[in-house]
Amino acid sequence: AKNVGIIAMDIYFPPTCIQQEALEAHDGASKGKYTIGLGQDCMAFCTEVEDVISMSLTVVSSLLEKYGIDPKQIGRLEVGSETVIDKSKSIKTFLMQIFEKCGNTDIEGVDSTNACYGGTAALFNCANWVESNSWDGRYGLVVCTDSAVYADGPARPTGGAAAIAMLIGPDAPIAFESKLRGSHMAHVYDFYKPNLASEYPVVDGKLSQTCYLMAVDSCYKQFCCKYEKLEGKQFSISDAEYFVFHSPYNKLVQKSFARLFFDDVLRNASSVDEVAKEELGPFLTLPESETYQNRDLEKVSHQAAKPLYDAKVQPTTLIPKQVGNMYTASLYAAFASLIHNKHSTLAGKRVILFSYGSGSTATMFSLRLCDGQHPFSLSNIATVMDVAEKLKSRHKFPPEKFVNTMKLMEHRYGGKDFVTSKDSSLLSPGTYYLTEVDSMYRRFYAKK
Ligand code: ACO
Repeated sequence: AKNVGIIAMDIYFPPTCIQQEALEAHDGASKGKYTIGLGQDCMAFCTEVEDVISMSLTVVSSLLEKYGIDPKQIGRLEVGSETVIDKSKSIKTFLMQIFEKCGNTDIEGVDSTNACYGGTAALFNCANWVESNSWDGRYGLVVCTDSAVYADGPARPTGGAAAIAMLIGPDAPIAFESKLRGSHMAHVYDFYKPNLASEYPVVDGKLSQTCYLMAVDSCYKQFCCKYEKLEGKQFSISDAEYFVFHSPYNKLVQKSFARLFFDDVLRNASSVDEVAKEELGPFLTLPESETYQNRDLEKVSHQAAKPLYDAKVQPTTLIPKQVGNMYTASLYAAFASLIHNKHSTLAGKRVILFSYGSGSTATMFSLRLCDGQHPFSLSNIATVMDVAEKLKSRHKFPPEKFVNTMKLMEHRYGGKDFVTSKDSSLLSPGTYYLTEVDSMYRRFYAKK
Protein backbone atom coordinates (compact mmCIF):
# COMPACT_ATOMS: atom_id res chain seq x y z
CA ALA A 1 0.00 0.00 0.00
CA LYS A 2 1.22 3.51 -0.86
CA ASN A 3 0.82 6.84 0.95
CA VAL A 4 -0.54 5.20 4.07
CA GLY A 5 -1.92 7.55 6.66
CA ILE A 6 -5.02 9.13 8.17
CA ILE A 7 -7.95 9.17 5.75
CA ALA A 8 -10.70 10.32 8.11
CA MET A 9 -11.01 11.75 11.64
CA ASP A 10 -13.59 12.67 14.22
CA ILE A 11 -13.34 14.20 17.67
CA TYR A 12 -15.57 14.14 20.73
CA PHE A 13 -15.16 16.08 23.95
CA PRO A 14 -17.63 16.39 26.83
CA PRO A 15 -20.07 19.31 26.56
CA THR A 16 -19.26 20.18 30.18
CA CYS A 17 -16.39 22.55 30.91
CA ILE A 18 -15.02 25.16 33.29
CA GLN A 19 -13.42 28.46 32.36
CA GLN A 20 -9.83 28.80 33.53
CA GLU A 21 -10.45 32.36 34.67
CA ALA A 22 -13.19 31.18 37.04
CA LEU A 23 -11.08 28.26 38.31
CA GLU A 24 -8.13 30.59 38.90
CA ALA A 25 -10.25 32.87 41.08
CA HIS A 26 -11.83 29.93 42.90
CA ASP A 27 -8.41 28.35 43.63
CA GLY A 28 -7.00 31.64 44.95
CA ALA A 29 -4.28 31.59 42.27
CA SER A 30 -2.93 34.98 41.15
CA LYS A 31 -4.89 36.51 38.29
CA GLY A 32 -3.56 35.32 34.94
CA LYS A 33 -1.74 32.26 36.28
CA TYR A 34 -3.87 29.71 34.42
CA THR A 35 -4.83 31.87 31.43
CA ILE A 36 -1.50 33.58 30.69
CA GLY A 37 0.91 31.57 32.85
CA LEU A 38 -0.29 28.19 31.56
CA GLY A 39 -1.90 29.68 28.43
CA GLN A 40 -5.21 27.85 28.88
CA ASP A 41 -8.74 29.18 28.23
CA CYS A 42 -11.11 26.43 29.27
CA MET A 43 -11.10 22.80 30.47
CA ALA A 44 -13.50 19.98 29.60
CA PHE A 45 -14.32 17.23 32.07
CA CYS A 46 -16.51 14.14 32.28
CA THR A 47 -19.50 14.22 34.59
CA GLU A 48 -20.65 10.99 36.26
CA VAL A 49 -22.44 9.82 33.08
CA GLU A 50 -19.32 9.92 30.87
CA ASP A 51 -15.97 8.12 30.86
CA VAL A 52 -13.26 7.02 28.42
CA ILE A 53 -15.39 4.09 27.24
CA SER A 54 -18.52 6.13 26.55
CA MET A 55 -16.47 8.83 24.78
CA SER A 56 -14.76 6.25 22.56
CA LEU A 57 -18.08 4.53 21.75
CA THR A 58 -19.46 7.94 20.78
CA VAL A 59 -16.55 8.95 18.55
CA VAL A 60 -16.25 5.58 16.79
CA SER A 61 -19.95 5.31 15.97
CA SER A 62 -19.96 8.95 14.84
CA LEU A 63 -16.96 8.43 12.53
CA LEU A 64 -18.43 5.29 10.94
CA GLU A 65 -21.77 6.97 10.40
CA LYS A 66 -20.54 10.33 9.10
CA TYR A 67 -18.08 8.89 6.57
CA GLY A 68 -20.44 6.05 5.59
CA ILE A 69 -18.06 3.27 6.65
CA ASP A 70 -19.50 -0.24 6.99
CA PRO A 71 -18.17 -1.69 10.30
CA LYS A 72 -17.25 -4.83 8.32
CA GLN A 73 -14.59 -2.75 6.53
CA ILE A 74 -12.52 -2.40 9.71
CA GLY A 75 -9.75 -5.02 10.03
CA ARG A 76 -7.74 -3.57 12.90
CA LEU A 77 -8.78 -1.48 15.88
CA GLU A 78 -6.20 -0.02 18.26
CA VAL A 79 -6.89 2.11 21.31
CA GLY A 80 -4.45 4.43 23.06
CA SER A 81 -5.37 5.44 26.61
CA GLU A 82 -3.83 5.93 30.03
CA THR A 83 -7.11 6.08 31.90
CA VAL A 84 -7.40 2.75 33.69
CA ILE A 85 -10.89 1.38 34.19
CA ASP A 86 -9.89 -2.27 34.09
CA LYS A 87 -6.41 -3.76 34.50
CA SER A 88 -7.14 -6.61 32.09
CA LYS A 89 -10.12 -5.97 29.85
CA SER A 90 -9.18 -3.55 27.10
CA ILE A 91 -11.24 -0.56 25.99
CA LYS A 92 -11.03 -2.10 22.51
CA THR A 93 -13.24 -4.98 23.70
CA PHE A 94 -15.95 -2.52 24.80
CA LEU A 95 -15.84 -0.98 21.32
CA MET A 96 -16.42 -4.43 19.82
CA GLN A 97 -20.10 -3.99 20.73
CA ILE A 98 -20.40 -1.75 17.67
CA PHE A 99 -18.77 -4.29 15.35
CA GLU A 100 -20.24 -7.54 16.75
CA LYS A 101 -23.71 -6.18 16.02
CA CYS A 102 -22.76 -6.00 12.34
CA GLY A 103 -21.25 -9.48 12.30
CA ASN A 104 -17.60 -8.38 12.35
CA THR A 105 -15.52 -10.00 15.09
CA ASP A 106 -12.46 -10.45 12.85
CA ILE A 107 -10.58 -7.35 14.06
CA GLU A 108 -6.98 -7.37 15.29
CA GLY A 109 -5.46 -5.02 17.87
CA VAL A 110 -5.80 -4.19 21.57
CA ASP A 111 -4.92 -1.19 23.79
CA SER A 112 -1.55 0.58 24.05
CA THR A 113 -0.54 2.33 27.26
CA ASN A 114 2.25 4.68 28.23
CA ALA A 115 0.96 8.00 29.49
CA CYS A 116 0.08 10.36 26.61
CA TYR A 117 2.04 8.29 24.07
CA GLY A 118 -0.40 5.34 23.75
CA GLY A 119 -2.30 6.99 20.89
CA THR A 120 0.86 7.39 18.85
CA ALA A 121 1.82 3.74 19.50
CA ALA A 122 -1.67 2.72 18.32
CA LEU A 123 -1.37 4.94 15.25
CA PHE A 124 2.01 3.50 14.28
CA ASN A 125 0.70 -0.07 14.80
CA CYS A 126 -2.20 0.55 12.44
CA ALA A 127 -0.13 2.33 9.81
CA ASN A 128 2.56 -0.38 9.96
CA TRP A 129 -0.16 -3.04 9.56
CA VAL A 130 -1.51 -1.37 6.42
CA GLU A 131 2.05 -1.17 5.05
CA SER A 132 2.79 -4.82 5.93
CA ASN A 133 2.34 -8.30 4.40
CA SER A 134 -0.41 -9.16 6.89
CA TRP A 135 -2.67 -6.34 5.68
CA ASP A 136 -5.98 -7.77 4.38
CA GLY A 137 -7.12 -4.68 2.48
CA ARG A 138 -9.46 -3.34 5.16
CA TYR A 139 -9.11 -0.11 7.17
CA GLY A 140 -7.32 0.37 10.45
CA LEU A 141 -9.05 2.41 13.14
CA VAL A 142 -7.20 4.25 15.91
CA VAL A 143 -8.93 5.61 18.99
CA CYS A 144 -7.30 7.93 21.55
CA THR A 145 -9.45 8.40 24.64
CA ASP A 146 -8.60 9.93 28.00
CA SER A 147 -9.96 11.79 30.96
CA ALA A 148 -7.17 13.82 32.54
CA VAL A 149 -7.95 14.67 36.15
CA TYR A 150 -5.59 15.85 38.87
CA ALA A 151 -5.87 16.14 42.64
CA ASP A 152 -6.71 19.56 44.02
CA GLY A 153 -3.52 21.65 43.63
CA PRO A 154 -1.32 23.29 40.98
CA ALA A 155 -1.79 20.52 38.38
CA ARG A 156 -5.60 20.54 38.50
CA PRO A 157 -6.00 23.28 35.81
CA THR A 158 -4.00 21.09 33.40
CA GLY A 159 -6.76 18.47 33.11
CA GLY A 160 -9.09 17.84 30.17
CA ALA A 161 -11.02 15.08 28.39
CA ALA A 162 -11.67 13.89 24.83
CA ALA A 163 -11.72 10.99 22.40
CA ILE A 164 -10.45 11.02 18.83
CA ALA A 165 -10.93 8.41 16.13
CA MET A 166 -8.72 8.16 13.04
CA LEU A 167 -9.31 5.89 10.06
CA ILE A 168 -6.09 4.51 8.56
CA GLY A 169 -5.63 3.42 4.97
CA PRO A 170 -3.70 3.88 1.70
CA ASP A 171 -3.81 6.97 -0.58
CA ALA A 172 -4.42 9.12 2.46
CA PRO A 173 -4.89 12.91 2.41
CA ILE A 174 -2.69 12.85 5.54
CA ALA A 175 0.16 10.49 4.69
CA PHE A 176 3.14 9.43 6.79
CA GLU A 177 6.61 10.24 5.59
CA SER A 178 7.53 6.94 7.21
CA LYS A 179 11.30 7.32 7.09
CA LEU A 180 11.20 10.66 8.89
CA ARG A 181 10.91 9.75 12.56
CA GLY A 182 13.02 10.44 15.60
CA SER A 183 12.35 8.91 19.03
CA HIS A 184 13.61 9.41 22.57
CA MET A 185 12.80 6.89 25.28
CA ALA A 186 14.16 6.93 28.83
CA HIS A 187 13.47 5.89 32.42
CA VAL A 188 12.23 8.86 34.44
CA TYR A 189 9.76 9.43 37.27
CA ASP A 190 8.16 12.65 36.01
CA PHE A 191 4.48 11.67 35.93
CA TYR A 192 3.16 8.21 36.79
CA LYS A 193 0.20 6.40 38.31
CA PRO A 194 1.48 3.93 40.93
CA ASN A 195 -1.55 4.27 43.20
CA LEU A 196 -4.06 1.87 41.67
CA ALA A 197 -6.78 3.01 44.07
CA SER A 198 -6.75 6.54 42.65
CA GLU A 199 -7.35 7.99 39.21
CA TYR A 200 -4.90 10.81 39.96
CA PRO A 201 -1.26 10.68 38.89
CA VAL A 202 1.81 11.36 41.00
CA VAL A 203 3.50 14.27 39.26
CA ASP A 204 6.77 16.12 39.63
CA GLY A 205 5.65 19.17 37.67
CA LYS A 206 9.01 20.89 37.21
CA LEU A 207 10.78 17.65 36.30
CA SER A 208 8.02 16.77 33.82
CA GLN A 209 8.58 20.08 31.99
CA THR A 210 12.32 19.48 31.73
CA CYS A 211 11.85 15.85 30.62
CA TYR A 212 9.44 17.03 27.94
CA LEU A 213 11.86 19.68 26.63
CA MET A 214 14.81 17.27 26.68
CA ALA A 215 12.72 14.82 24.64
CA VAL A 216 11.89 17.62 22.15
CA ASP A 217 15.62 18.27 21.68
CA SER A 218 16.58 14.65 21.41
CA CYS A 219 13.81 13.73 18.96
CA TYR A 220 14.55 16.79 16.83
CA LYS A 221 18.23 15.81 16.68
CA GLN A 222 17.36 12.27 15.54
CA PHE A 223 14.78 13.58 13.12
CA CYS A 224 17.24 16.06 11.53
CA CYS A 225 19.88 13.33 11.29
CA LYS A 226 17.53 11.01 9.42
CA TYR A 227 16.34 13.79 7.14
CA GLU A 228 19.89 14.74 6.26
CA LYS A 229 20.84 11.12 5.49
CA LEU A 230 17.79 10.72 3.28
CA GLU A 231 17.69 14.10 1.53
CA GLY A 232 21.37 14.97 1.58
CA LYS A 233 20.71 18.42 3.04
CA GLN A 234 20.17 20.04 6.39
CA PHE A 235 16.68 20.16 7.93
CA SER A 236 15.43 23.27 9.69
CA ILE A 237 12.13 24.71 10.88
CA SER A 238 11.67 26.29 7.46
CA ASP A 239 11.31 22.83 5.87
CA ALA A 240 7.89 22.25 7.46
CA GLU A 241 4.79 24.42 7.26
CA TYR A 242 3.41 23.55 10.69
CA PHE A 243 4.58 22.03 13.99
CA VAL A 244 2.11 20.23 16.21
CA PHE A 245 2.97 19.37 19.81
CA HIS A 246 1.49 17.22 22.54
CA SER A 247 -0.14 19.94 24.61
CA PRO A 248 -0.39 19.48 28.41
CA TYR A 249 -0.94 23.26 28.47
CA ASN A 250 -0.17 25.91 25.88
CA LYS A 251 2.80 27.53 27.63
CA LEU A 252 4.80 24.31 27.26
CA VAL A 253 4.04 24.29 23.52
CA GLN A 254 5.39 27.85 23.26
CA LYS A 255 8.52 26.77 25.10
CA SER A 256 8.92 23.70 22.89
CA PHE A 257 8.83 25.64 19.67
CA ALA A 258 11.29 28.20 21.09
CA ARG A 259 13.51 25.22 21.88
CA LEU A 260 13.40 24.01 18.24
CA PHE A 261 14.31 27.53 17.19
CA PHE A 262 17.27 27.53 19.59
CA ASP A 263 18.28 24.09 18.27
CA ASP A 264 18.34 25.53 14.73
CA VAL A 265 20.61 28.35 15.94
CA LEU A 266 22.87 25.80 17.66
CA ARG A 267 23.04 23.79 14.43
CA ASN A 268 23.81 26.99 12.54
CA ALA A 269 20.87 26.34 10.20
CA SER A 270 20.98 28.60 7.16
CA SER A 271 17.33 29.59 7.63
CA VAL A 272 18.01 31.43 10.91
CA ASP A 273 18.36 35.17 10.37
CA GLU A 274 21.38 37.15 11.54
CA VAL A 275 19.49 39.12 14.18
CA ALA A 276 18.36 35.95 15.93
CA LYS A 277 21.84 34.47 15.68
CA GLU A 278 23.25 37.55 17.36
CA GLU A 279 20.59 37.64 20.10
CA LEU A 280 21.03 33.97 20.95
CA GLY A 281 24.80 33.99 20.47
CA PRO A 282 25.63 34.44 24.18
CA PHE A 283 23.78 31.20 25.03
CA LEU A 284 25.45 28.94 22.49
CA THR A 285 28.28 28.02 24.86
CA LEU A 286 26.06 27.08 27.82
CA PRO A 287 26.40 23.41 28.84
CA GLU A 288 23.25 21.68 27.56
CA SER A 289 22.08 20.70 31.05
CA GLU A 290 21.95 24.38 32.05
CA THR A 291 19.91 25.47 29.05
CA TYR A 292 16.69 23.95 30.44
CA GLN A 293 16.57 26.18 33.53
CA ASN A 294 18.00 29.37 32.05
CA ARG A 295 15.29 32.05 32.22
CA ASP A 296 17.16 34.55 30.02
CA LEU A 297 17.61 32.00 27.26
CA GLU A 298 13.93 31.11 27.55
CA LYS A 299 12.92 34.76 27.23
CA VAL A 300 15.20 35.60 24.30
CA SER A 301 14.39 32.45 22.30
CA HIS A 302 10.67 32.92 22.98
CA GLN A 303 10.87 36.47 21.57
CA ALA A 304 13.01 35.49 18.59
CA ALA A 305 10.75 32.54 17.69
CA LYS A 306 7.49 34.46 18.19
CA PRO A 307 6.77 35.39 14.52
CA LEU A 308 7.41 31.79 13.42
CA TYR A 309 5.33 30.47 16.34
CA ASP A 310 2.42 32.63 15.21
CA ALA A 311 2.67 31.27 11.67
CA LYS A 312 3.61 27.62 12.24
CA VAL A 313 2.16 26.67 15.65
CA GLN A 314 -0.64 29.03 16.66
CA PRO A 315 -3.18 27.47 14.19
CA THR A 316 -2.74 24.12 16.03
CA THR A 317 -3.57 25.42 19.50
CA LEU A 318 -7.34 26.03 19.45
CA ILE A 319 -8.73 22.75 20.83
CA PRO A 320 -5.98 22.11 23.42
CA LYS A 321 -6.46 25.65 24.81
CA GLN A 322 -10.24 25.20 24.93
CA VAL A 323 -10.45 21.60 26.12
CA GLY A 324 -7.21 21.12 28.10
CA ASN A 325 -4.84 18.18 28.22
CA MET A 326 -6.57 15.20 26.63
CA TYR A 327 -3.53 12.97 27.26
CA THR A 328 -3.37 10.49 24.30
CA ALA A 329 -5.82 12.62 22.29
CA SER A 330 -4.00 15.90 22.94
CA LEU A 331 -1.56 15.81 20.01
CA TYR A 332 -4.28 14.71 17.59
CA ALA A 333 -6.68 17.35 18.89
CA ALA A 334 -3.96 19.92 18.13
CA PHE A 335 -3.66 18.44 14.64
CA ALA A 336 -7.48 18.55 14.32
CA SER A 337 -7.29 22.28 15.16
CA LEU A 338 -4.93 22.76 12.23
CA ILE A 339 -7.32 20.99 9.86
CA HIS A 340 -10.19 23.04 11.26
CA ASN A 341 -8.31 26.32 10.73
CA LYS A 342 -6.36 25.67 7.53
CA HIS A 343 -7.92 22.77 5.59
CA SER A 344 -8.16 24.70 2.32
CA THR A 345 -4.45 25.61 2.20
CA LEU A 346 -2.77 22.43 3.46
CA ALA A 347 -2.29 20.55 0.17
CA GLY A 348 1.37 19.80 -0.54
CA LYS A 349 2.43 20.91 2.94
CA ARG A 350 4.60 19.03 5.42
CA VAL A 351 3.49 18.95 9.06
CA ILE A 352 5.74 17.76 11.91
CA LEU A 353 4.18 16.19 15.01
CA PHE A 354 5.76 15.70 18.43
CA SER A 355 4.27 13.06 20.71
CA TYR A 356 5.29 12.84 24.39
CA GLY A 357 4.28 10.35 27.07
CA SER A 358 5.74 10.66 30.57
CA GLY A 359 7.90 7.92 31.93
CA SER A 360 9.14 8.61 29.17
CA THR A 361 8.47 7.91 25.49
CA ALA A 362 8.53 10.44 22.65
CA THR A 363 8.56 10.53 18.86
CA MET A 364 8.76 13.31 16.31
CA PHE A 365 7.34 12.33 12.93
CA SER A 366 6.32 13.84 9.62
CA LEU A 367 3.09 13.98 7.62
CA ARG A 368 2.57 15.11 4.03
CA LEU A 369 -0.87 16.46 3.16
CA CYS A 370 -2.98 16.57 -0.01
CA ASP A 371 -6.61 17.62 -0.56
CA GLY A 372 -7.90 14.04 -0.95
CA GLN A 373 -11.21 12.90 -2.43
CA HIS A 374 -14.63 13.02 -0.86
CA PRO A 375 -15.47 11.71 1.69
CA PHE A 376 -11.77 11.42 2.57
CA SER A 377 -10.85 15.04 1.86
CA LEU A 378 -9.40 17.60 4.25
CA SER A 379 -12.41 19.85 3.78
CA ASN A 380 -14.84 17.02 4.58
CA ILE A 381 -12.80 16.05 7.66
CA ALA A 382 -13.16 19.66 8.86
CA THR A 383 -16.90 19.56 8.17
CA VAL A 384 -17.41 16.24 9.98
CA MET A 385 -15.40 17.34 13.04
CA ASP A 386 -17.49 20.51 13.29
CA VAL A 387 -15.14 21.92 15.90
CA ALA A 388 -16.56 25.45 16.13
CA GLU A 389 -20.10 24.22 16.79
CA LYS A 390 -18.94 21.65 19.36
CA LEU A 391 -16.97 24.32 21.24
CA LYS A 392 -19.80 26.84 21.08
CA SER A 393 -22.53 24.56 22.38
CA ARG A 394 -20.78 23.65 25.63
CA HIS A 395 -22.11 24.22 29.14
CA LYS A 396 -19.88 26.19 31.48
CA PHE A 397 -20.00 24.90 35.05
CA PRO A 398 -19.27 27.18 38.01
CA PRO A 399 -16.17 26.07 40.03
CA GLU A 400 -18.20 24.67 42.95
CA LYS A 401 -20.11 22.36 40.63
CA PHE A 402 -16.85 21.24 38.99
CA VAL A 403 -15.25 20.51 42.37
CA ASN A 404 -18.32 18.54 43.46
CA THR A 405 -18.17 16.51 40.24
CA MET A 406 -14.50 15.70 40.93
CA LYS A 407 -15.41 14.58 44.48
CA LEU A 408 -18.17 12.32 43.23
CA MET A 409 -15.85 10.79 40.61
CA GLU A 410 -13.15 10.17 43.27
CA HIS A 411 -15.74 8.32 45.30
CA ARG A 412 -16.99 6.32 42.32
CA TYR A 413 -13.53 5.38 40.97
CA GLY A 414 -13.02 1.62 41.10
CA GLY A 415 -16.51 1.24 42.59
CA LYS A 416 -19.34 -1.19 41.86
CA ASP A 417 -23.02 -1.61 42.45
CA PHE A 418 -24.26 1.84 41.57
CA VAL A 419 -26.54 3.45 39.04
CA THR A 420 -25.79 6.89 37.65
CA SER A 421 -28.31 9.73 37.39
CA LYS A 422 -28.77 8.64 33.73
CA ASP A 423 -29.17 12.34 33.08
CA SER A 424 -28.29 12.85 29.43
CA SER A 425 -29.88 16.29 29.11
CA LEU A 426 -26.56 18.07 28.42
CA LEU A 427 -25.40 15.49 25.85
CA SER A 428 -26.12 15.79 22.15
CA PRO A 429 -28.02 13.04 20.30
CA GLY A 430 -25.87 10.02 19.48
CA THR A 431 -23.75 10.35 22.63
CA TYR A 432 -23.19 7.23 24.72
CA TYR A 433 -23.45 7.51 28.50
CA LEU A 434 -22.91 5.34 31.56
CA THR A 435 -26.05 4.09 33.27
CA GLU A 436 -24.90 1.44 35.71
CA VAL A 437 -22.00 -0.53 37.19
CA ASP A 438 -23.42 -3.77 38.63
CA SER A 439 -22.26 -5.94 41.56
CA MET A 440 -19.83 -7.77 39.21
CA TYR A 441 -18.28 -4.40 38.09
CA ARG A 442 -19.92 -4.84 34.68
CA ARG A 443 -20.50 -1.49 33.01
CA PHE A 444 -23.63 -0.58 31.06
CA TYR A 445 -24.05 2.23 28.57
CA ALA A 446 -27.00 3.75 26.70
CA LYS A 447 -27.03 5.90 23.56
CA LYS A 448 -28.96 9.18 23.51
N1 ACO B 1 0.19 35.85 35.49
C1 ACO B 1 0.90 35.35 34.45
N2 ACO B 1 1.73 34.28 34.57
C2 ACO B 1 1.84 33.70 35.77
C3 ACO B 1 1.14 34.17 36.89
C4 ACO B 1 0.29 35.31 36.72
N3 ACO B 1 -0.42 35.82 37.72
N4 ACO B 1 1.44 33.39 37.95
C5 ACO B 1 2.31 32.45 37.51
N5 ACO B 1 2.55 32.64 36.19
C6 ACO B 1 3.37 31.81 35.30
C7 ACO B 1 4.66 31.33 35.86
O1 ACO B 1 5.68 32.29 35.69
C8 ACO B 1 4.89 30.08 35.05
O2 ACO B 1 5.33 30.40 33.76
P1 ACO B 1 6.80 30.02 33.28
O3 ACO B 1 6.86 28.51 33.26
O4 ACO B 1 6.94 30.59 31.92
O5 ACO B 1 7.69 30.60 34.29
C9 ACO B 1 3.49 29.53 34.85
O6 ACO B 1 2.61 30.62 35.09
C10 ACO B 1 3.14 28.41 35.80
O7 ACO B 1 3.42 28.83 37.07
P2 ACO B 1 4.22 27.89 38.08
O8 ACO B 1 4.39 28.56 39.38
O9 ACO B 1 5.43 27.35 37.38
O10 ACO B 1 3.08 26.75 38.21
P3 ACO B 1 3.02 25.55 39.17
O11 ACO B 1 4.37 25.02 39.48
O12 ACO B 1 2.15 25.90 40.30
O13 ACO B 1 2.26 24.47 38.23
C11 ACO B 1 2.69 22.85 36.48
C12 ACO B 1 2.52 24.33 36.84
C13 ACO B 1 3.99 22.33 37.08
C14 ACO B 1 2.72 22.74 34.97
C15 ACO B 1 1.50 22.05 37.05
O14 ACO B 1 0.31 22.54 36.53
C16 ACO B 1 1.60 20.56 36.76
O15 ACO B 1 2.26 19.83 37.47
N6 ACO B 1 0.86 20.06 35.71
C17 ACO B 1 0.87 18.64 35.35
C18 ACO B 1 2.19 18.18 34.74
C19 ACO B 1 2.30 18.44 33.25
O16 ACO B 1 1.35 18.70 32.57
N7 ACO B 1 3.55 18.32 32.74
C20 ACO B 1 3.78 18.46 31.31
C21 ACO B 1 4.43 17.29 30.62
S1 ACO B 1 3.83 15.75 31.20
C22 ACO B 1 2.16 15.54 30.70
O17 ACO B 1 1.83 15.70 29.56
C23 ACO B 1 1.18 15.12 31.71
